[in-house]
Amino acid sequence: MAETAARAHESARSRGRVSKFLIPEVIFGVGTLAEVGGAVRRVGGVRPMLVSDAGVLAAGWVERALPHLADVRVEWRLWHDLTPNPKDVEIEAAFESYLESGCDALLAIGGGSCIDVAKAVAILSGNGGRILDYEGIDRATSPIPPMVMVPTTAGSGADVSQFCVVTDTSRGLKATIGGRALVPDVSLTDPEILTTMSPELTAHTGLDALSHAIESCVSEACDFLSKGHALAAARTIAEHLPVAVEDPSDLRAREAMASASLQAGLAFTNALLGATHAISHQIGGALDLPHGLLNAILMPHVMRFNAETHPERYVDVARALGVEVDGLSAGAAADAAVERVEALGRALDVPRGLREVGVDPADFDGFARTALRDAYIATNPRPVTEDDVRRICLAAY
Ligand SMILES: [Fe+2]
Repeated sequence: MAETAARAHESARSRGRVSKFLIPEVIFGVGTLAEVGGAVRRVGGVRPMLVSDAGVLAAGWVERALPHLADVRVEWRLWHDLTPNPKDVEIEAAFESYLESGCDALLAIGGGSCIDVAKAVAILSGNGGRILDYEGIDRATSPIPPMVMVPTTAGSGADVSQFCVVTDTSRGLKATIGGRALVPDVSLTDPEILTTMSPELTAHTGLDALSHAIESCVSEACDFLSKGHALAAARTIAEHLPVAVEDPSDLRAREAMASASLQAGLAFTNALLGATHAISHQIGGALDLPHGLLNAILMPHVMRFNAETHPERYVDVARALGVEVDGLSAGAAADAAVERVEALGRALDVPRGLREVGVDPADFDGFARTALRDAYIATNPRPVTEDDVRRICLAAY
C-alpha cells in the first residue's frame, strides 16, 4: 500500500515536471573548420566580427579559417584585444569596434573568454546600454545578431550555452548573464584545433568540463535530457583527459575530450550548475585566476558538502567515473566519486588548495556574501548558507 502511494506520488511529481532543451546547430568532426564560412553565411552573416586571442592566432587557427570565409565572400573584422576572464571594459571596447566596422554577425574562434566576449557584443548590439545592465536571466529582450562559435578548448561549453560570464571590474566579481537569446546559432567543433593547447590549459579546461558534467548531473534542474549527456561526459573525461594532457598531439584523446566538452555543455546549459561555480566565480573575479583551476580545487569539497544530504545523486556519477558501485551504500559511492575526482586532479598536477594559488582566507567572508547571489547557487542540490561557503573555502584552503 505504502509502495503504491509512493509510486503514485512519484508519478504525479513527474507529470508536473516540464523538460525543455535548448541547443544550437552542432557541427562536430575533424576537418569541420572548413565549414566555418558556410556556417556564417547560413545564419545571415556577411561581415562578422571575428573574436579570437593571441594564443589562438599564434597557433595559426585563425589563418587556417580565413580562406574558408573568403571562399564564400565573408568579410571579417578581427578583434583580439581581450584577457582571460574578460572584463566589462574590454567588452565595451569590442562593441565600439563592432559598430565602427559595420559588422552584422559574431564569429568566435577561441576559448570560453572569446566566446563570452562575442556573446556580450551581440547583447549590446541588439539591446544597447552597458553589459552589466543584463546581469541575471532574460534581461536582454531584443533580438541579437547571429553567432557562430568555434571552441578552441575542451572546454568551457560556452559554444552551446545560454550563458555569458563577464568580470565586473568595479565589484571584483564575475557576473553571469543568461537567457535563451544567448544560445549561439552554430557550434562548430573541429577537434584538431585542440592539439595545440598546452598540457596546463588542457588540464584546467578539461576539469572545468568535468565540473560541468558533475554539477549539472546533481543539479535541482537536471532531467533525463541533460543527465545522459552529463554522465557520458564524465565517463569520457575520466578516461581520456590524462591521455590528452600527457600527449597533446593524440587526436583520439582530443576528439574524445571535444565530445565530452560538448556534452557537458549541453547538459549544464539546460540543467544549470551549483556551488562549485557559484563560489569560483567570486574568487576568479576578485583574483583573475583560471576558472577551470578554481573549479578543480573546489569541486571535491562541494561534492562532499552536497553528499552529506544528497549522497544518492552521486551514485551514477561514481559509476561514470569508473567506480564499481554494486553493493556500496549511496554514501560510500559518493565518497568514492570524490576520491576519483581528487585522484584525477593529483594525476594532472593541479594545485591541491586555494592557499597554493594565492587566495587569502581574509576574503572568504566577501566570497560567502556574493556567492549566495550567483545565478548557479539556486540549483545546488543542498541549500547553501554564507557559513557553508566559508566552510567549503576553508576545507579547500
Ligand atoms: Fe565552468
